[in-house]
Amino acid sequence: MKNILVTGGAGFIGSNFINYILNKRDDYFIVNLDKLTYAGNLENLRPSEKKKNYRFVKGDIINHELVNYIFQKYDIKYIINFAAESHVDRSILGSEIFYRTNVIGTNVLLEVSRRYEVERFLQISTDEVYGSLGLQGSFIETTPLSPNSPYSSSKVAADMMALAFYHTYGMPVLITRCSNNYGAYQFPEKLIPLMIINCLNDKELPVYGDGMNVRDWIYVIDHNKAVETVFENGKIGEVYNIGAENEMPNIKIVELILEHLNKSKNLIKFVKDRPGHDRRYAIDAAKIKNELGWKPEFSFENAIKDTIDWYLNNKNWWGRIISGDYQKYYEKQYNS
Ligand code: NAD
Ligand code: TYD
Repeated sequence: MKNILVTGGAGFIGSNFINYILNKRDDYFIVNLDKLTYAGNLENLRPSEKKKNYRFVKGDIINHELVNYIFQKYDIKYIINFAAESHVDRSILGSEIFYRTNVIGTNVLLEVSRRYEVERFLQISTDEVYGSLGLQGSFIETTPLSPNSPYSSSKVAADMMALAFYHTYGMPVLITRCSNNYGAYQFPEKLIPLMIINCLNDKELPVYGDGMNVRDWIYVIDHNKAVETVFENGKIGEVYNIGAENEMPNIKIVELILEHLNKSKNLIKFVKDRPGHDRRYAIDAAKIKNELGWKPEFSFENAIKDTIDWYLNNKNWWGRIISGDYQKYYEKQYNS
């Protein structure tokens, strides 16, 4: 049995990871530590909550005592750190919580992991650490880090700290850097769910700038299979890019959503650009493919349609979020 602390497991990618992995393996015992911020939702974990090899702990990764207690109580030997403040626009509005959670929080996890001599520490990072690309080229693992937002700079700090623990203490650290994810349970502040939900509500679709910023999209299950691959077989001290070679300008995604939902393009509204908006991301994932044998399995064409249909069929899930009583709702849910 592998006793694994998964942090941020009530968020979009973490909950998909837990549901995927517990459905597949019974040799993993997972303790999910999540603060349940606005982005955390226990409803995402319905498929896993009754499993014998799953526990949920509500708490902050910055809480040294609590993290220490969890390691002791559950004999944690592995950690996968998904927990983060993850939204660029929020980091522009106020950066403090981003550095608290993403930097200090990661430091707490590293320090406690060091004390308990973990066998693997997997830091979930992002391609945004590399900054912005021009028209050509893609990020490789040795591309210089050049973050442009408070969010991406906090992720760089966490990556650097994790690598410093590897170099200094020989801690068995691994890092993954993935491109933009889409799929079920993504909080409706991110581009794809926001556009789908606005579309369903016949509300304007706010496209930043000229809509020609490019993101490289990957289905969340493909990301999580890559996380599993690196967790199981990655080489200690290494960084692995994850991506599905699926670059697309934002406007094209928005048009595709409109088309699938049979709505008018008149809903599109070009709005003021995001400050410091990175123009283009593109991931070269040759290393994980060649060295670990991972490759994406889902086509964008099908997975985006499944994603749109998921939101169409799960109005209760996002209805509670956008109705504004979400905080109260999940507190009640947790206490019941
Ligand atoms: P999310 O915002 O949906 O979820 C984050 C989760 O972390 C939430 O459940 C939240 O409650 C929890 N959390 C936040 N602060 C915490 C704290 N101090 N202590 C404990 N839990 C806390 O984010 P996501 O999209 O699922 O991203 C997960 C990870 O993947 C992040 O580290 C992010 O940087 C990285 N990532 C995301 C993407 C993407 O496209 N969403 C792409 C690449 C990498
Ligand atoms: P987002 O989902 O916030 O992810 P990230 O900023 O981490 O890449 O945004 C994806 C792209 O969509 C990004 O170029 C910003 C753009 N965008 C809009 O045009 N309108 C919106 O309302 C949002 C949330 C994002």
